[in-house]
Amino acid sequence: MKICRTIAEVRAFRQTLVQGVGCVPTMGYLHAGHAALVQASQAAHPATIVTLFVNPAQFNAAEDLANYPRDEAGDLAKLVSWGVTAVFIPTVAEIYPTGYQTYIDVEEVSQGLEGQYRPGHFRGVATVVAKLLNIIQPSHAYFGQKDAQQVAVVRQMVQDLALPVEIMACPTVRESDGLALSSRNARLSPAERRAAPVLYRALRQTQDAYQAGERLAETLVEQARAIIHAEPLVRLEYLSLNDPQTLKPLAGTLAGSALLSLAAYCGPVRLIDNLLLAKHSEHL
Ligand code: PAF
Repeated sequence: MKICRTIAEVRAFRQTLVQGVGCVPTMGYLHAGHAALVQASQAAHPATIVTLFVNPAQFNAAEDLANYPRDEAGDLAKLVSWGVTAVFIPTVAEIYPTGYQTYIDVEEVSQGLEGQYRPGHFRGVATVVAKLLNIIQPSHAYFGQKDAQQVAVVRQMVQDLALPVEIMACPTVRESDGLALSSRNARLSPAERRAAPVLYRALRQTQDAYQAGERLAETLVEQARAIIHAEPLVRLEYLSLNDPQTLKPLAGTLAGSALLSLAAYCGPVRLIDNLLLAKHSEHL
């Protein structure tokens, strides 16, 4: 596996790869969710480049950035065992050198949901993803559906800026009790870890209600909210039903599928999750 730390190095390596390249952008602390993205890329492309960069521009709290788990040696070992072609691990100064001043704002899709509670987050995500895609020049880039709004923001950016890349969303990978895999799960205490699967239970039971014919948005949201409220270690930040593409909030009788998404604190750890309410199992 080729390890590149500078833009010049990864560009030079990229030029040796004649065929299409899949790219998996990550912030490291890799888990089975990332492995699934890598596998999806490897199934479709002869070469897969993973990027590993904890992007300061997308953290709105300095504390969250400082607490973000990191394990470069462990990540490199995993990437080797997964058979990745190359990894790009830039420093902050490589991506944001002194004098850096260009940012991308995806105006509408970035509003609401995560955007409401993490001001500036998607500006940071869009900026770094655009820069990484521009450096790597993959034909396809792979993202997890767990970050549904991130997928929508990146897709809108790619469309608006006519970036020559296809954005692929892969299904959320879960623990056996339903908890969505996240690097942040490592920070849950044992009691919090036991409480956290209530989020998926609430999403699933609401999906069941939708599939059984319930179409009133308020009833569906209330049902999920009540399930989560019954768990004292979990504090809901938001729970929302939105159009799966535009992310506009939905109310009243649902005419089609809807994205049910939430953020909740489990102790000090902020978790997000979502499920698509659709007649049959579908994903974004
Ligand atoms: O999903 C993530 O890990 C990050 O938001 C991403 C896409 C790597 C951009 O920093």
